[in-house]
Amino acid sequence: MSEINGNIQRRGPGSLLVPETNSYPTIRKRQMIEQTLFGKLSDGREIFLYSLRNEAETEVHIINYGAIVKNIFVRDKKDKIEDVVLGYDTLKDYINDNSYFGAIVGRYGNRIAKGKFQLDGKEYNLVINDGGENHLHGGKTGFYNVIWRAEPYVDESGPCLKLTYVSRDGEQGYPGTLSMVIIYTLTEENELIINYEGKTDKPTILNPTHHSYFNLTGDFTKTILNHELQIDADKFTPVDELRIPTGELCDAKGTPMDFTTPHPVGLYIDKEDEQLKGAKGYDHNWVLNNYNSRIRKAASVYDLVSGRLLEVFTNQPGLQFYSGNFLDGIKGKKGIIYKNRSGLCLEAQHFPDSPNNPEFPSVMLKPGETYRQKTIYKFSVK
Ligand code: BGC
Repeated sequence: MSEINGNIQRRGPGSLLVPETNSYPTIRKRQMIEQTLFGKLSDGREIFLYSLRNEAETEVHIINYGAIVKNIFVRDKKDKIEDVVLGYDTLKDYINDNSYFGAIVGRYGNRIAKGKFQLDGKEYNLVINDGGENHLHGGKTGFYNVIWRAEPYVDESGPCLKLTYVSRDGEQGYPGTLSMVIIYTLTEENELIINYEGKTDKPTILNPTHHSYFNLTGDFTKTILNHELQIDADKFTPVDELRIPTGELCDAKGTPMDFTTPHPVGLYIDKEDEQLKGAKGYDHNWVLNNYNSRIRKAASVYDLVSGRLLEVFTNQPGLQFYSGNFLDGIKGKKGIIYKNRSGLCLEAQHFPDSPNNPEFPSVMLKPGETYRQKTIYKFSVK
């Protein structure tokens, strides 16, 4: 690993640190990136863990397997610093994972019906990996389980980790060689900014998203049912029994899907409702208000007990809110057995199955264009 701007030093085996005194004016006293060996794959390749830390001592730990956010340590209202994302302690567990804990998923985050879509009159068939019928989160090999090239650095926004991956033409059935760049930045405002960029050499589709399961209590034996959620969306995309959108945009008002005013996730989750029953809870895409490709607030989650508030900002048209309906029995960090609804995902994205719904915003990417997504997870206390 080379030095970055001359500001990162080796301190002990496999570890890089931003020194506390340096000539780079934007690096403050406690800002730091540390690199440590996280584990090895069966073929001997090494996977590293990058710890990004800011002045407030918020820490985000990311591994270059799956671009996975392994931990987010933030303060509560009593200044207690705790981890607020589910996951595992070892690389082996991440390799065997089926829940996409903390990962970047794609090429297409969410579902494509029957794995089929057409582009310029040609039909493409993607790998089927969901419910025996559909394509989910990129297939059997996706952004979530490949090795990303990692470059840590610090700029005026804070410590950053740049991750790059080139997906070959035809991977999992997708056309075009796709060059992806993900930049995670931790700012002094306790924002985790995720910038995505993608370029292709043939027309293709692209819809990556981030799959952290948040639990703001900091205690993963608890569920997220008391978290107060607000989503800036008047409509959602209803789904069939295999969670494929029917193509309609439905009014959320008057249904358990209405999160325009904040209320606990658990308030209506067990209501007799066709949409909730089919997905065993919330697992739907909301049509965010004011979509014009610019970044705006999409959602907020608040845990009254810890006082932790998470706000989500994005330039995407949709937000999948998934209430962790299939987590039961998974052995996670520190041996804790997760339950259904131990964590919730807020996945900024284009609508599921967009390639088969021409009236949904387009997910097509052509050579010469650059795909750009910016999503921010901002933490504070109130
Ligand atoms: C999907 C769920 C799926 C989960 C897998 C979510 O993004 O919406 O349907 O079960 O990912 O962990």
